Amino acid sequence: MMKPMPTILAIETSCDETAVAILRGNDLLASEVASQAEHEAYGGVVPEVASRNHLLHAPRLLEEALGKAGVALKEVDGFAATSGPGLASSLMIGASMAKGLALGAGRPYLAINHLEGHLLSPFLWPGSAIPATTSAEIKPNVALIVSGGHTLLVEVRGLSDYHILGRTVDDAAGEAFDKVAKLLGLGYPGGPEIEKRAATGNGARFDFPRSMLDSGDYNFSFSGLKTAVRYRLAEFQKDQATPELVSDMCASFQRAVVEVLVKKTLRAATEYGASLVTLSGGVSCSEALRNEMAERCREGGLRLLTAPPRLCTDNAAMIAFAAALKFQSGFHSAVTEEIDPNLALA
Ligand code: KG4
Ligand code: ZN
Repeated sequence: MMKPMPTILAIETSCDETAVAILRGNDLLASEVASQAEHEAYGGVVPEVASRNHLLHAPRLLEEALGKAGVALKEVDGFAATSGPGLASSLMIGASMAKGLALGAGRPYLAINHLEGHLLSPFLWPGSAIPATTSAEIKPNVALIVSGGHTLLVEVRGLSDYHILGRTVDDAAGEAFDKVAKLLGLGYPGGPEIEKRAATGNGARFDFPRSMLDSGDYNFSFSGLKTAVRYRLAEFQKDQATPELVSDMCASFQRAVVEVLVKKTLRAATEYGASLVTLSGGVSCSEALRNEMAERCREGGLRLLTAPPRLCTDNAAMIAFAAALKFQSGFHSAVTEEIDPNLALA
């Protein structure tokens, strides 16, 4: 018989978000996230700055999470941390902290893959249309993971049974949003900035390339699209760079990204006979992507699962959830297990 869901404390520090969450059984008791605005001035994450900030924020978030959850360390069944992929100097902070807590409490440590956290997040209660309370309830699906560091299309056969169908050959989808936002003089992270402008823009004004749409595989490419935006922008004089032009560029760029992501995901779902599609990662906050994916899934008779936006961007709730399901299946990690900045999902 499957063990009941445990109480897990998880720490996520793979990039520039510091996060701590506590999950007990079906209840997400606390999910604290501290974002680092410092990187905006650089237009990207500075590893040294990120790790110093993790050191600063993580102990405070830990105390806040324990206080909010009303949980004592001795009540925690397992301590989890993201062990990769991510920035080495950032990963070390969360992993060291979780290992220390596990050793102190005499409980297991669980090293969790950040991508597996994203991938499982659509099944995370509360609020999931298909809540999973055991690993057996992770239904087969085709998963699109779109974040700042990754763009992956995965055939999910069950918990820990993942088959990569395709990935980006250059920039990740979120990275493309961030780079195009920088080109257009917008803030970081670029996704929400572009989405805001795109809402009032004309997405049909610029016919940006849909790279690799018909490549015959499930890979993606976004760097040509970014270059196309740069060239189109250069055709305008500085005084012509009106808010209207920026909005139209944002809307046209967003439309191109969404079209490729949705069409390839739907093709994969058809080829692999999936009746369920899941969408996760920071870029899945995009209403344009969520709406288009929902529309096409409805047309194709497929069920779509997405996490609420606060669980799409980096958070520790998804790490706690992945850890809880794996703990139930008997998974523990050695405290000697190292972080791996290039950790693969499969
Ligand atoms: O998953 P995440 O928080 O961190 C990584 O693991 O990378 O994803 C962050 C990425 C950033 O590139 C950000 O620009 C993008 O998600 N993003 C969005 C939106 N919100 C965040 N991209 C498009 N539209 C959005 N609304
Ligand atoms: Zn992420």
